[in-house]
Amino acid sequence: MAIVPPHFMTRTVNIGLIGAGTVGGGVLQALRRNGALMASRLGLRLRVERVAVRSLKKKRDFKVSKGVLTADWKSVVNDPKVDLVVELIGGTTIAKDVVLAALREGKPVVTANKALLAFYGEKLFAAAEKSGANLYYEASVAGGVPIIKVIREALAGNRVTHLYGILNGTCNFILTKMNEGMEFSAAVKLAQQQGYAEADPSLDIDGHDAAHKVGILASLAHGFWVKPGEVFTEGITHICPMDLEFAGKLGYAIKLLGIVKISRAGSIQVSMYPALIPDDHVLANVSDVYNGILVRGDVVGDTLHYGQGAGPDATASAVLSDIGDAVLDLKHGATDRLKAFIPHESNGAVRQIGETTCCYYLRLSVLDRPGVLAKVSAVLAKNKIGISSVTQPEGHEGKSVPLILMLHYAKNLAMTKALKSIEKLSSVKTKPVMIRVESLD
Ligand code: HSE
Repeated sequence: MAIVPPHFMTRTVNIGLIGAGTVGGGVLQALRRNGALMASRLGLRLRVERVAVRSLKKKRDFKVSKGVLTADWKSVVNDPKVDLVVELIGGTTIAKDVVLAALREGKPVVTANKALLAFYGEKLFAAAEKSGANLYYEASVAGGVPIIKVIREALAGNRVTHLYGILNGTCNFILTKMNEGMEFSAAVKLAQQQGYAEADPSLDIDGHDAAHKVGILASLAHGFWVKPGEVFTEGITHICPMDLEFAGKLGYAIKLLGIVKISRAGSIQVSMYPALIPDDHVLANVSDVYNGILVRGDVVGDTLHYGQGAGPDATASAVLSDIGDAVLDLKHGATDRLKAFIPHESNGAVRQIGETTCCYYLRLSVLDRPGVLAKVSAVLAKNKIGISSVTQPEGHEGKSVPLILMLHYAKNLAMTKALKSIEKLSSVKTKPVMIRVESLD
């Protein structure tokens, strides 16, 4: 597929695309729509030379010239005509082989693969360094929101003290729909139909996809590579419509929230969990498939970045942005103008979740009889956790009733201990639902 260029361009950059599923198909369509515009901005022609797909038989929404499509990704990566490889197959097995093989060939690579970066980032960066070819990954975090460029380039003169991010479009979509009354499973299905959810949606709803993304942002902001196992992660499967309702009445929204925060001791909290946030905060109004990231720099103050976080078009926009960067670097022979990752805080460390502090929402299902609240508050007091409010909503008559407690600042370690004891109380009938509360200060 040739992109019609202005007449003055002499050189063509040939793209080898690996993967033409939801995102790859979106990239081909976006290139068809705006490739000529991009070419005129970049001063080089763009051409999709080869496309590798898993099955040649599958019906596709895009058309390519004969001979472009192949089921053999190696023939694309090794094709001497291909200057730039775009990896969009996802997963961490073949995708890793593709990226490493392309880098070994000295070819720059664009990828949208956050799991691959989260698990193998250091290895891939070392391979890029060795080969002299660069690795571009804007599309790996927050879909169409150019947050990687913001952290690495626009805010290069800042120390990022806080980052709060709604980074999973699917979970945000599900929480929004649940808030409107839709069942959890129906919302997941809708997200899948619209191309937001991962092939395995548990990556979304268990928080892993978003955890990979916050790990990447934390690494870029703080200059040491944060491993996936270091990111404390909780998904949204334990949240009920009732929690969204109670939170709303208390003046909060519930969001799956990534946090990167410097502690007083200097270590960094890097976490991804659902949190109650004040409903008058701008992040509380980031709904549906949108992502929103608040980045606080010590020079600039608060900055906010917002846009669609998932879906073929949003992700394609970020892939095109990386293709643009890669093409300009090729044009100027600038293989390490901005390296894939530059370590700069060799002593950086992630703070254990138990040591971090926040407030809490606690929903218990308890027997409606005298003395229950006294028992719960005795456990909290023993763990030095203060209660800021208690609600037992009316209209829940039955064997057990909901009891909602808002708790003051306490270490996560203390809260975990308290929860273990509360769970054992005979008057507490089901597993307590604890959701952290973040003031976003
Ligand atoms: N499943 C991801 C999301 C897609 O919902 O955010 C983009 O990474």
